[in-house]
Amino acid sequence: MSVIEKFTTMDYGPAPEDPKESLLWLDARQRKFGHFIAGRFQSPVEGKYFETTDPSTGEKIADVAQGSAADVDAAVKAASLALPAWQKLSGHRRAKFLYALARHVQKHSRRLAVLETLDNGKPIRESRDLDVPLVARHFYHHAGWAQLLAQEFPDREPCGVVGQIIPWNFPLLMLAWKIAPALATGNTVVLKPAEFTPLTALAFAELCNEVGLPAGVVNIITGDGATGEALVKHPDVDKIAFTGSTEVGRAIRRATAQSHKKLSLELGGKSPFIIFEDADLDSAVEGLVDGIWFNQGQVCCAGSRLLVQESVADKLTRKLQARMSTLRVGSPLDKSIDIGAIIARVQLERIDGLVKQGIAEGATCWQPEIVLPSRGLYYKPTLLSNVHPTSIVAQQEIFGPVLAAMTFRTPQEAVQLANNTVYGLAGSVWSESVNVALQAAAQIKAGVVWVNSTNLFDAACGFGGYRESGYGREGGREGLLEYLEPTWFKHAPAVAETVAPGLSPATSAPVADTPDVANPITAIDRTVKLYIGGKQARPDSGYSIPVYGRSGELLGEAPLGNRKDVRNAVEAARKAEDWSKTTAHNRAQVLFYLAENLSQRGDEIAKRLSAAVGEKQAAQEIHASIERLFSYAAWCDKFDGAVHNPPFRNISIAMNEPIGTVGVVCPADLPLLGFFSLALPLICAGNTVVAIPSEKYPLITGDLYQIFETSDLSGGVLNLVTGRSSELLKVLAEHDDLDAIWCYGDVALCSAAKALSAGNLKQVWTNEGRKIDWFDAAQGEGRWFLQRAYQVKNIWVPYGE
Ligand code: NAI
Repeated sequence: MSVIEKFTTMDYGPAPEDPKESLLWLDARQRKFGHFIAGRFQSPVEGKYFETTDPSTGEKIADVAQGSAADVDAAVKAASLALPAWQKLSGHRRAKFLYALARHVQKHSRRLAVLETLDNGKPIRESRDLDVPLVARHFYHHAGWAQLLAQEFPDREPCGVVGQIIPWNFPLLMLAWKIAPALATGNTVVLKPAEFTPLTALAFAELCNEVGLPAGVVNIITGDGATGEALVKHPDVDKIAFTGSTEVGRAIRRATAQSHKKLSLELGGKSPFIIFEDADLDSAVEGLVDGIWFNQGQVCCAGSRLLVQESVADKLTRKLQARMSTLRVGSPLDKSIDIGAIIARVQLERIDGLVKQGIAEGATCWQPEIVLPSRGLYYKPTLLSNVHPTSIVAQQEIFGPVLAAMTFRTPQEAVQLANNTVYGLAGSVWSESVNVALQAAAQIKAGVVWVNSTNLFDAACGFGGYRESGYGREGGREGLLEYLEPTWFKHAPAVAETVAPGLSPATSAPVADTPDVANPITAIDRTVKLYIGGKQARPDSGYSIPVYGRSGELLGEAPLGNRKDVRNAVEAARKAEDWSKTTAHNRAQVLFYLAENLSQRGDEIAKRLSAAVGEKQAAQEIHASIERLFSYAAWCDKFDGAVHNPPFRNISIAMNEPIGTVGVVCPADLPLLGFFSLALPLICAGNTVVAIPSEKYPLITGDLYQIFETSDLSGGVLNLVTGRSSELLKVLAEHDDLDAIWCYGDVALCSAAKALSAGNLKQVWTNEGRKIDWFDAAQGEGRWFLQRAYQVKNIWVPYGE
């Protein structure tokens, strides 16, 4: 036999990992686990347990407690009890605990990796070389943040008791992503692992005791969706951090709407993997192996949509099929296995059902001729080509080893296809041209884009989605902010209930046909219009509402905006999105110029405004608004991103990008300053805005658009629709083409904003019904606003040969 023959016929022998140590660990605990509450394992109140099984064999591994509402309550109580002392510890003391956890994860790394593979079915190569090392890295990184917290985040407080719900695809890693930042910032935790994979969380609970973590700081409750729901609804939980399906994310958004719980959601994805014709195709094929067959494709950021340039599509397909034929599917404990077992039968059936549906919709299915193990839950690596962009397999998260392939001709078409999804978690771009790759990376609407690489993660680099992939980030500085609140805000008093204007639409007067420009400064009967797409517009309703002054006198009439007006305004704002491409310097100039114009008209506006808010406040509002305009003009070219140095040959460029088009419900009591305080950070960041001005004094609209018209603000960047806040909020919140909503009002209005925005999971930010002192720059402007006006995109760029 020649060397060549030997080489081509050579096969891998089995290289099984010995699970003995982990099995002994399970046996020593009688393979039965209660909840970890207040530092002790405790039997469930209702005495119910469920089985966790090895998906590669179907065999039972252990019995695990099924958490009831009473168990959740006990865990939340323990976390609440532990909170004051944990918060009082110095950052250094907390850092030492996190460091100890990192060291203990490293010390027990092999056992944790084997346990993870047994419970989840992922290849030991992955749990050993990726999951567990990254877990340790997260605790190290956050030990550092605990140490620096007071210096780097002065005037911020932890949220309190945090409820964390994680999925089954990276059980221990997701635990680390959640627990490390929560503890570093001084929160205490109740974490619920997924029902399919509770074991490593329970092993981690033991590590907490080993390092002497105070009882109650970390509590682990096992159970299913009902247990998760009880945690979400518990009144003493201050924040929920969730990773899982978009559907459950939506349910959690609704379930927490009536509370002050802070919420971060890391949800599904349908991430594009774009290969341009000048890419190194062999590297791209290896990238695809990582992109879609890593962890059996059960990865939220899996590169599940292959978009390949038409000119190289055939060549790439041949290379890909050849590579797929060499993928080894089998026992996850075998160290030379590429693809392990699928988590559960229900998931296997789901994958198969979606593939069949894709084929019925016209896709061509190709699978290599490899033999799957006779028992256990396995699925062949699958390539679906000729997939139509609207097919279910191009749109829905399959969460399995299935790649849906499409072709494109031009880079523009590639970006269009890439963004043709409700998700926005990640993307991967392959090209030897730095210009082509970075141009595409900048245009993809996703929280992470890997250039000539894929599925790279690091604790220093934020991870999270755009659109229906959720909101909030995990990792890095932005991840920490999810677990902190400004101290003043946490303790701010409630705002008074929103004051509604006088008349109902039925008794409203028809809009006067006379132009308002002729009105003298203090005249009664002042009529303003809506302002949409840079033009004054009459309301669709044909009605206006009277606006009264402080002494009950009629000040004028404001248009009664309705659904159609809001829709027109959103459309105009969308069309104006080139605003995001103007340079920061240009945006700054526009804001400075607005300040100049406001200053010039200050006296006349103050006179009108004083009828509604009094002379003193009117003067203060004008003065403070001019300052706020200067502040955000200053910020335009200074709120920069960052460059991270993860421990690979990569840089990760954290870019601050605008969110898109944002709806704003303005405060009632400060018609001018309230509007500017919310609209300015948004347009400073390059967003376009549809604002509902103060319900109490909507006549400010007339002054605002006169200032806009004499400045260089492009039409459509700021749109104003007056009317009843609660009605217009509903239209904004339910609008599917709006990316975010900022709502300032009483508790009822804020709750409505949160509940109604769950449809397309738009980002929602409210004052939680609390009072903000808009005159105080420490409360009313700056980073706290800008951090919400931008979203961070991490672009990973490799270097070196
Ligand atoms: P899931 O979203 O139902 O489960 C994730 C976690 O949420 C689990 O701990 C579960 O017990 C909990 N949960 C379920 N219902 C809940 C509720 N109403 N309130 C609070 N917690 C609740 O995901 P599942 O059913 O395991 O997988 C279904 C699909 O979801 C997958 O096929 C995949 O497409 C997607 N998925 C996405 C993940 C991601 O990382 N983006 C992770 C897991 C699943």
